[in-house]
Amino acid sequence: MAPETQPHLQPPPSWSAIPQDLAVLVLRLLPAYVDRARFAAVCPQWRAAARLPLPPPQPLLALPNGTFYSLPYTKPFRFPGCGFAGYQSVCGNWLVFSRDNGCFLVDPFSGATMTLPALSCIRLQPPNAVAKWSDSDDGRARFADPYITWMHISDESHKLHISKLIMCSPNLVAALVGIGHTTQILMCKPGALSWSVRAYDECKGFEDMAFYQGKLYAIADDENLLVVNISEDHNTGDPQVSKTAQVIKGDRCPWYHAVFDDNMMHNQKIYLVESRGALLMVRRAIWCKVPERGVDREIVARRNEFEVFKADFERSRWDKVTTVGDDQLLFLGRRCSMALSVSQYDIPGDSILFLDDDEENRVEYSYEGENTSFSTYHLRFRFISSALSKISWKRGDDMRLAVWLFPQDR
Ligand SMILES: *[C@@H]1O[C@H](CO)[C@@H](O)[C@H](O)[C@H]1NC(C)=O
Ligand SMILES: *[C@@H]1O[C@H](CO)[C@@H](O)[C@H](O)[C@H]1NC(C)=O
Ligand SMILES: *[C@@H]1O[C@H](CO)[C@@H](O)[C@H](O)[C@H]1NC(C)=O
Repeated sequence: MAPETQPHLQPPPSWSAIPQDLAVLVLRLLPAYVDRARFAAVCPQWRAAARLPLPPPQPLLALPNGTFYSLPYTKPFRFPGCGFAGYQSVCGNWLVFSRDNGCFLVDPFSGATMTLPALSCIRLQPPNAVAKWSDSDDGRARFADPYITWMHISDESHKLHISKLIMCSPNLVAALVGIGHTTQILMCKPGALSWSVRAYDECKGFEDMAFYQGKLYAIADDENLLVVNISEDHNTGDPQVSKTAQVIKGDRCPWYHAVFDDNMMHNQKIYLVESRGALLMVRRAIWCKVPERGVDREIVARRNEFEVFKADFERSRWDKVTTVGDDQLLFLGRRCSMALSVSQYDIPGDSILFLDDDEENRVEYSYEGENTSFSTYHLRFRFISSALSKISWKRGDDMRLAVWLFPQDR
């Protein structure tokens, strides 16, 4: 055979031999978590490329029955292995399950697990705190504090409920815990035996918390932003709240809960989310129809409206903004919210994606329609579009807590 024909006999180059920076270029353009996972599963070289720092993909939408959607796809998928159904909450990349002796967290992306103490194991600050009672005019004993403190609600520990969990660092978890709308800030170290709480501080209608630029912030329904000062317990080294201080004076809308002439009432949810280096407060108004007297008494949610404010720490105020940026999508959830930059994905930004995820112990209205989904509020055009025709599930107590789950690159 003539030597010139020999190049034709060489094996074709292997796909795994593509240069790593080319593989990274491809990965960066994939907005869906499942596509990146499939890419990484091809060969060890591609898996190594997928482990490099990459812009985060879109979150998963998780349903309590163990079904996940990897946006922007509308086809459900399941993680291999266990089903992850029946979670109680979510915290970034962690699904939170309750166990008799505490909380059990699983990262379905990596399989990592973590445990948190039970809500029956709480260290009081000060340790010798007791409920303060005084006699009222009619001779009955009542709490002496003018406001509700942890000592008022701790007796009903079986009713305590975690409404928000934040992983501030590998050694610090903060939670909003309480009964109904009345909550307090608790803290613990993962794996520790107890939470810690300030016994005599006022419990508030906390709406959200965020860990922003190394500090923990909390906001109540008065829209005052508090910074939470954290210290260590001298004996155990466990984290605890040393004090809270107001850093922004809120401007809560004055007609909150008023019923207007057209029988419409305004309900409100507040979210904190970091976007492009700023701390944002999103005020979500849920306009509800109050029934005429006599007939059906159900208050029914109708339209949603959003207003976005940026924290101005220097002037101690919330500044209203009309845009969050063409590259930003805000995924809002009662349990976990996050902003995602989408400039490289060819997806329109300047939008808020939100769920009808009311707390099970704070249901103030019902909904029309049997099914629900997530919806998108387009800030520039101020209109809402719904994913109902593509992804939907039946409302119901067991399906109330649909959540966003954010894959963490590692
Ligand atoms: C927390 O409070 C202590 C005592 O008031 C103060 O020295 C410290 O600087 C505060 N830390 C933060 C992060 O604000
Ligand atoms: C969970 O709910 C979704 C939406 O209703 C449905 O498509 C899916 O089949 C359900 N999964 C299970 C395991 O029941
Ligand atoms: C609601 O969703 C279920 C699937 O979860 C579907 O079978 C049913 O037809 C939907 N109902 C309506 C009224 O769209």
